Amino acid sequence: MKVFITGGTGFIGSAVIRMIIRKTRASVVNFDSLTYAANPLALEETSEDGRYSFEKANICDAKALRRVFSDQRPTCVLHLAAETHVDRSIDGPSEFIQTNVIGTCALLEVAREYYEELEGQQRKEFRFHHVSTDEVFGSLDSEGLFTEESPYRPNSPYSASKAGADHFVRAWHRTYGFPALISNCTNNYGPWQFPEKLIPLAIINALEGKPIPVYGTGSNIRDWVHVEDHACALWEILNRGRLGETYNVGGNNEFTNLEVVQSICSVLDRLNPDSGNVPHSGLISMVEDRPGHDHRYAMNTGKISTELAWQPQRDFQSGLKQTVKWYMENRSWWQKVQKEIYKGNRLGLSGRQTAAP
Ligand SMILES: NC(=O)c1ccc[n+]([C@@H]2O[C@H](COP(=O)([O-])OP(=O)(O)OC[C@H]3O[C@@H](n4cnc5c(N)ncnc54)[C@H](O)[C@@H]3O)[C@@H](O)[C@H]2O)c1
Repeated sequence: MKVFITGGTGFIGSAVIRMIIRKTRASVVNFDSLTYAANPLALEETSEDGRYSFEKANICDAKALRRVFSDQRPTCVLHLAAETHVDRSIDGPSEFIQTNVIGTCALLEVAREYYEELEGQQRKEFRFHHVSTDEVFGSLDSEGLFTEESPYRPNSPYSASKAGADHFVRAWHRTYGFPALISNCTNNYGPWQFPEKLIPLAIINALEGKPIPVYGTGSNIRDWVHVEDHACALWEILNRGRLGETYNVGGNNEFTNLEVVQSICSVLDRLNPDSGNVPHSGLISMVEDRPGHDHRYAMNTGKISTELAWQPQRDFQSGLKQTVKWYMENRSWWQKVQKEIYKGNRLGLSGRQTAAP
């Protein structure tokens, strides 16, 4: 089995590649343009492995895609490459439309051309798995869960671009019989997440004794799944999911953003009692809300657990403790990111950004 992975140098893609190289006999071709969000260090352990190869290229570049498909002859595609930060999509939606919609369509077209030329067993086995988000379903009130049948109601430029991509994948399956399937997952957390996202930003600011920003009243609810659990779910779906279907993935860990940040502070009070900032919750600072901020996301994960026997293995408290410890032990990585790429400044106020605290 040879998996063509797009966006493999990102947070989730690198977790998937580490898992494949550690736990399976499959080979991987990582096709990634290395945007600001890429973490080449997260793949240090796999980069020397003979089953791993890397192509620095953009999914919008059909010529580069054709060359790599033709040279590498993959047996399946796992498509993760995307612009992923909601706040950045508010400040600049065009990059999101370009990569998430146009790039996905370019990839679909090249993968379909390749598929059409396959024969026999290779054609029978080929599949294309598109990785998406629960945000395409919009926002829930305090009751209910998203299912695979929930209507699409994206509210941010990010979720609209992912929804667009999902629709094209579905259309390629229905119109051309292209062997594709989709998964929609809730918020991921764990090691190597780029410091602009809620959990790493809160950990890093707390470690540095800086204000920890919480949007609005902090009452927005998200469901959290550990990135390694998501990586296992993706592997099961890629290998055994039914073509033409979608699968919801979640952690059954619903918390308000304020609760998540308070939990991080409590973990740090125990792990870092001499920081001079105990209780770390004193650093929490309520800030202007995100425009169009969805209230709640939560998933019914019955389909993947019944059909593919997948369940998340990590409970949130132990996963969060492991994640906080990881950021404490990997300061040099995020300090380099802060110095060279992202200083922790507020994003997503459509041009009215504020300076880093
Ligand atoms: N992080 C989450 O909580 C979450 C939840 C559900 C779904 N997802 C989806 O999972 C996928 C991966 O998310 P992530 O958090 O790992 O993202 P990420 O931002 O950490 O990584 C994205 C990767 O894609 C690459 N990339 C971006 N544009 C590209 C392009 N045009 N061509 C080639 N490579 C490109 C980047 O260099 C980077 O390595 C995305 O499709 C995202 O929508 C993420």
